[in-house]
Amino acid sequence: MTYLLGIDVGTSGSKALLTDDAGAVLATATTAYPMFTPRPLWAEQNPDDWWTATATSIRQLLDQTGVQPGDIAGVGLTGQMHGLVLLDRDDQILRPCIMWNDQRTAAQCAALTRKIGSDRILRLTGNPILPGFTAPKIAWVRQHEPDVYVQVAHILLPKDYVRLRLTGAHATEVSDASGTSLFDVGQRRWSEEMLAAMDIPIEWMPVCAESPDVTARISEAGAAATGLLAGTPVVGGGGDQAAQAVGTGIFREGVISVTVGTSGVVFASTDTYRPEPEGRLHAFCHAVPGKWHLMGVMLSAGGSFRWFRDALGEPESGAALKSGRDPYEPLVELAAQAPAGCEGLLFLPYLTGERTPHPDPEARGVYFGLTLRHGKSHMVRAVLEGVSYGLKDSLELMKDLGVPLEQVRGSGGGVRSALWRQILADVFDTELVTVNTTEGAAYGAALLAGVGAGVYADVPDACAKTITTVDQVVPGCDNVVYADYYPLYRSLYPALKPAFDATAGVVAIHMSGS
Ligand code: XUL
Repeated sequence: MTYLLGIDVGTSGSKALLTDDAGAVLATATTAYPMFTPRPLWAEQNPDDWWTATATSIRQLLDQTGVQPGDIAGVGLTGQMHGLVLLDRDDQILRPCIMWNDQRTAAQCAALTRKIGSDRILRLTGNPILPGFTAPKIAWVRQHEPDVYVQVAHILLPKDYVRLRLTGAHATEVSDASGTSLFDVGQRRWSEEMLAAMDIPIEWMPVCAESPDVTARISEAGAAATGLLAGTPVVGGGGDQAAQAVGTGIFREGVISVTVGTSGVVFASTDTYRPEPEGRLHAFCHAVPGKWHLMGVMLSAGGSFRWFRDALGEPESGAALKSGRDPYEPLVELAAQAPAGCEGLLFLPYLTGERTPHPDPEARGVYFGLTLRHGKSHMVRAVLEGVSYGLKDSLELMKDLGVPLEQVRGSGGGVRSALWRQILADVFDTELVTVNTTEGAAYGAALLAGVGAGVYADVPDACAKTITTVDQVVPGCDNVVYADYYPLYRSLYPALKPAFDATAGVVAIHMSGS
């Protein structure tokens, strides 16, 4: 029997997953690590923690399953994107990783955009420079930690640091490199022009492969730490979103994934490089050779429903928890009592600001249209509908770029609710399906390993052999109601933008005064 190993170096822990060559998951093992916030808005992790956690997870998995390391045909890596790992010439870690959710670089983003020019940045990289991305973090270290900066010899992304420890190679792949602001996404190679504009030597950057390609093999040191066999091939893998897309079968135009976790991600594979002219969608290389992807990220999707549960739904969810039920269940039942459209009550889900389509940290959550008729059932349903409208915003931007929409594949905690699945299908006016694979990015990494090891011919072959749809929801008659309410939802953000900005100013005065 042949087995494949997927490793996801995530935000909260490192997950290792073993599949057989038919795609069945044998077992998974996850080892957690801490995230540090030494100052407000900062988010850091110790790359050494990723490595020890990964080695522990792999060892556990081998113990648990009894699989012989020699039967593992390939290893695929995925993980949190955008993080900055700085190493000296001896590969020693120079400072903690500055992570994807770190928000310290607003000033560097503004300065780089002024210096290089927003049009040129979009032309070179397909995206604006955003605080989460890697390049502005390099500028921050250069400005604030010059003693560290002078020692830099290598720059790596999080999963690629684990690759270094497994194999000794400095390598990455196109999907993760796309989120650095230093990558020519159209040409699928480092952008010499961007690197020169930022004074970053290209020698610092890892070799960049296509995602299913073998980048290196497990070294003797990697084998000793993990129990894997030296010589086992390690493929490029993918950034977590691209690998998750592979793991749910998203590789052709028309089939788009919507993941409703704390955040909400809309992901479309495209056959050509098609950046959004204003950079409102991320345009990155897909983990499928010759394909790209567009991605919209909503910050509070399932997070809005959790907020409602804790802030207003506690009596219902608390009682459910006490009787051993899912705390969201009574809230979904309540939502089902309100009619589609909530009789004019709309909810804007910008509880933590927003990323797509309004990259605005000052945007705020809003209930709009409250009347005496509205009760809790309307209020909870409005949250589910508002998040669905927000996700539709990304789908609309994709449609404007000519991306067809035939089927949405839903995943994440939000799509566990049949009512929310129906609302999503109605709001999108598209069929919504769920698939048999629920292990996310680690599963996609295992499939990519299978392609690199020759178990599958290519990514479409891997997906065809392993992924099937298990549930299908078609739009019902409520789609007509939502078609009328969606333009109203869309009109609210531009109308409220001046008030959001003014509110941020007033809050700042009173917070600093308190
Ligand atoms: C993608 C993104 C997240 C992180 C962490 O752009 O910011 O998916 O990779 O999961």
